[in-house]
Amino acid sequence: ILECVILDRHSRLSSADLKARLKGLNLSDSIFTADQITEFVDLMQVYEGAMYEISTKLEILDNEFQVRFAHDPIHHMERRLKSVNSIIGKLERKGLPIAVESIKDNLFDVAGIRVICNYRDDVYSVSNYLSAQSDIQVLRVKDYIKRPKQNGYRSLHVIYAVPVFLSSGAHYTPVEVQFRTIAMDYWASLEHALRYKTDLPDARLNEHSQTLLDCARSLQNIEVQMQNIHRDINGAPVVEQT
Ligand code: GTP
Ligand code: MG
Repeated sequence: ILECVILDRHSRLSSADLKARLKGLNLSDSIFTADQITEFVDLMQVYEGAMYEISTKLEILDNEFQVRFAHDPIHHMERRLKSVNSIIGKLERKGLPIAVESIKDNLFDVAGIRVICNYRDDVYSVSNYLSAQSDIQVLRVKDYIKRPKQNGYRSLHVIYAVPVFLSSGAHYTPVEVQFRTIAMDYWASLEHALRYKTDLPDARLNEHSQTLLDCARSLQNIEVQMQNIHRDINGAPVVEQT
């Protein structure tokens, strides 16, 4: 079998080049100096590194499960860096200074990974194995699966701090990981779309929100039933329907 290796070879803009180009622009109207913009680009590169570190760890776990148990817990992953606009928007909403230090101190979701699992058991086994790894720290856990939000939202959110090794040493960088099942993801996508439909009349919005809450409960029941079939055919104990 011929193995195929793909090398990413896009060239990065160096800090010096960036600074030189920015110096050539008229930044007098901008609230940022060329130095601040360069510092921001450097910071984003660290977040990107942290995001890759965590997603690689998750891929390794998924591969190990496939080899050991012939079961792949992760259906797929999505990862993203927060856009400049959303970073600034969030700092403004929280009344925080618009500065690089302020991002580092206050925003924990600049690097984000969504891990979509096949079953609820997978959500907990993958997140537990990741959290137990000795080179990363768990900064915060919000378990909206054990305690769903009022609107029906379910997912497990964990913020990790992962060391990114640069020439200057280890930089512990936060990454927000959202673990959820396919059903939870299916639900969250529609709820997210509804949230941005501000042009709908209140009565219809309320009606849809109520229906979505019912859907969340139904999906939860379906998930337990399917999880139990999966457990049974794999010789694992079944769980009670809640
Ligand atoms: P943020 O300021 O929004 O980051 O709040 P937080 O820091 O308290 O974060 P939390 O862990 O509650 O939620 C963070 C992310 O989870 C959001 O940016 C969404 O991606 C997702 N999320 C949280 N609640 C909901 C919800 O009700 N519906 C949907 N669709 N997504 C949600
Ligand atoms: Mg957030």
